[in-house]
Amino acid sequence: MDRRFSDREVQLILKRALDPEVGPHADDPSEGGLSLAEIEEIAAEVGIDPGRVRLAAATLHEATQAPANPYAGIPTTIQFQSSLPGVRLLGADPHDAISVIRAALGRQGIVKVQNDALEWRARDALGGRYVSITPSEDGVRVRVLGNFRDGLFLSAAAGGMLSFTGIFLSLTAMGLPESVVPLVAAGVALVTPRVVYRWLRRREDRALADAHARLVTMLGERATERAAEEAAGGAEALAPAGPTALPSTPGASASPPRGALRVIDLAEHFGRFEDRWTPKLVAEMNGQLVKLAKGEGDIVWHSHEHEDEFFLVVAGELTIHLRDGALTLGPGQCAVVPAGVEHRASAAVETHIVLIEPASTRHTGEVESEQTVSIEDQEWLL
Ligand code: NI
Repeated sequence: MDRRFSDREVQLILKRALDPEVGPHADDPSEGGLSLAEIEEIAAEVGIDPGRVRLAAATLHEATQAPANPYAGIPTTIQFQSSLPGVRLLGADPHDAISVIRAALGRQGIVKVQNDALEWRARDALGGRYVSITPSEDGVRVRVLGNFRDGLFLSAAAGGMLSFTGIFLSLTAMGLPESVVPLVAAGVALVTPRVVYRWLRRREDRALADAHARLVTMLGERATERAAEEAAGGAEALAPAGPTALPSTPGASASPPRGALRVIDLAEHFGRFEDRWTPKLVAEMNGQLVKLAKGEGDIVWHSHEHEDEFFLVVAGELTIHLRDGALTLGPGQCAVVPAGVEHRASAAVETHIVLIEPASTRHTGEVESEQTVSIEDQEWLL
């Protein structure tokens, strides 16, 4: 039978093949692996592009885990992280990355795209999930994180309480001796949440690892394709690098991954955020931004020196107070507050508002208050 070699032996063989000076038993742990430069050298010998080797090496993700939950013995936070050299978010990349994240994690989430960075997060009863693609020195860093500190464990514990009650009742109904029933029920109730927690967490962790792997693969492929295109024709490489290369509207540094014409479902978009008086961006056209805001309570008096402001109420009731009166808008009603007119908005109940205003408009005018969200920080809902 042919001798088979372990990974370590293969490394050693390659190492020795390159440098006969290396002893046959390089067992010092520091000698255990190959440096990236050595692997690149080996790859070059067999005609593999060193750039691809660097990328492949970088995609071996570092997964880091936080201290374990004392009860279930599983870390409460899990993070997958990779550095991808030579990769940049261009053209439709952010848009496609968001689709990948949504498919892998099964949630819409809230998206923030800013210059060449992307941030996605979602929170529900189980916990929080966070994905970011941020520029690094020579490429991008992909980070996928799940934090299940509170929610998931509480759900599992609630499951335990329920199972205790359920088991208690059914055991009693079965006619087991009264002294035994609570003991059996408590035993099962202690074990059940643990099992439920572990099962849920395994499912979540797999989804996070999957999201990470799919993002890394997609971004790596894009970078390789671009490199190939550049190599194929210098002239083509000079063409604009996709839709994000369009000049963005002054004042709005955040811009959506454009290109794809899409349906903006108002009800669905309003269902994705809860903050009040914090406009979210959904579209941009002709230098105007279309924003969705939820109102409840009051917002400060202010005026916009140069911009008219359009309000359309979709649900609830919005009162626009003016110095000499007030307008009340119900669902399906809209109004324009002209530039320079002082106004203040209030809503007695949760109110859904569509705003259209120039990209340069600050939503609390020249007044800086706790309610002011800078234009750069207004989030895109994609
Ligand atoms: Ni205003």
